[in-house]
Amino acid sequence: MANYSDNSRPLSPLFIDTSDPDVIETYLKMGIISGVTTNPTIIVKEKFAANEKEAEKHQIRLAKLIDPLPISLEVTTNDPDGMIEQAKHLVELGDNVVVKIPVHGPKGELHNFEIINRLSKMGIRINCTAIMSPIQGLMAALAGADYVSMFGGRLANVGHEAANEYSKLRELLDMHAPDAKIIAASTREAYNVTEWLLAGCDIVTVVPDLMKIFLVHPYTKETVQMFLDDGAKLKAQSQAPK
Ligand code: E4P
Repeated sequence: MANYSDNSRPLSPLFIDTSDPDVIETYLKMGIISGVTTNPTIIVKEKFAANEKEAEKHQIRLAKLIDPLPISLEVTTNDPDGMIEQAKHLVELGDNVVVKIPVHGPKGELHNFEIINRLSKMGIRINCTAIMSPIQGLMAALAGADYVSMFGGRLANVGHEAANEYSKLRELLDMHAPDAKIIAASTREAYNVTEWLLAGCDIVTVVPDLMKIFLVHPYTKETVQMFLDDGAKLKAQSQAPK
């Protein structure tokens, strides 16, 4: 497997939010992503696996593809013992696996913090996900999460200015848990990427469609076409009989 990482260059602050191996490989080859995030919804939606067994096989493939850069794989249960068991299993799928644990359960169950704490003490790297407020993010980091994924797009859906929330989370982590990294997730608009990085996020995770939107600019297209047309004119002139 080709290794596209290069220690001599700074790591990109972008992760790709997908389970599509071709997309991952494309952006890895460009050198503009430094990790992958997935979740059960992405895996169901993108249809690379039809059941749990296939999903596991697929996740092993993705982990190898992005190795040694990190891939976040999420637990699919909120049962405390089940989460521990799944987390231990997920890290066996690759050395670069980071386990995603939601900040709390669907009914507000808080045992997730204890699970994060226990897993981090076992040396398992945790990406605490589905965070919707700076204080949840700080608490997740204090519990032991290495990454805290706050969902900016979903925050914006319910009327928050996500960049402000990221700035608050940045300040809180700088004061109390400086080792934890902020992942800006649930990215919806191309301008979010710049805004959220400038708000202090360490990483923004981006879905493939959005990646194309902010990389390609209509005015760049027009400008490059002008260069090519004039380059062709020069070539034609040098080939013309004198
Ligand atoms: C990333 O790690 C998250 O799982 C993802 O960005 C969630 O985004 P959504 O709000 O589109 O579900």
